[in-house]
Amino acid sequence: MITSNKLNSDSPIAFFDSGIGGLTVLNKVKKVLPDESFIYYGDTVHMPYGEKTKEQLLEYSDNIFRFFEEKGCKAVVMACNTTSSVIYNDVAGKYNFKLYPIVQSVAEVLSGLNIKRLGIFATRATIESKAYSKNIARYNQNIEVFGQFCPDWVHFVEENSMDKPENIKIIKADLDKMLANEPERIVLGCTHYPFLLDVLSQFAPKDMFIDPALYFAEYIKNDLTENNLITQAANRFEEFYVSSSPELFKSSSKMFYDVENMPELLTF
Ligand code: DGL
Repeated sequence: MITSNKLNSDSPIAFFDSGIGGLTVLNKVKKVLPDESFIYYGDTVHMPYGEKTKEQLLEYSDNIFRFFEEKGCKAVVMACNTTSSVIYNDVAGKYNFKLYPIVQSVAEVLSGLNIKRLGIFATRATIESKAYSKNIARYNQNIEVFGQFCPDWVHFVEENSMDKPENIKIIKADLDKMLANEPERIVLGCTHYPFLLDVLSQFAPKDMFIDPALYFAEYIKNDLTENNLITQAANRFEEFYVSSSPELFKSSSKMFYDVENMPELLTF
């Protein structure tokens, strides 16, 4: 097990996801940790992660994690629900940084929501892993969890096409299927899905939807604080890398994050 006393509190925090989705998490983390430096890797060439096998996800993550190690990152945020659900147990403790998986980190807060029926929208891989229901059940076995995957949503977000009438129809049909289970709240269990909140809230109350990044950001802040890993450095920076299409990444991300410079193309 790697111990945090070898880590440098002034080093950057890294994020990775299959594309722009993790920016919804970076956005929330930056709000609570505004002085930190961030590195973001969008593995756009391998998107969608939600349709990949465990072996593929392990291979992609290993390359990305080794890059983050070379960069000296103190922490890596598995902003991606899919990798957190499918490979976290296999990679935990293997690299020289603190590792934060989204699903496991927010399960306790979700378990305390004081509701009986909880919906989870996520990728196929996340739903099939049952990571949300298993992790919530560790704290509370009285919540019934309804998982549903929405295979088109990630593409709508990456292409910035969620406002097209034909795509709104698909999103509404997915939502209707979920609402048939009568959930009291619905977790947007894929980092891309908060980009769809405006569309979803045309058909259901906005406060029904939970962006787990909100709780995740607090969790990360508390853990870094407890481990004396909050930066004291004066000069912060942000770096963005993608495995394909930097221009598309920059333009599609606008709604959630201002990626100032063109992301650097980096493949392994
Ligand atoms: N945004 C990622 C997640 O949170 C993966 C989406 C995908 O590439 O399928 O699960």
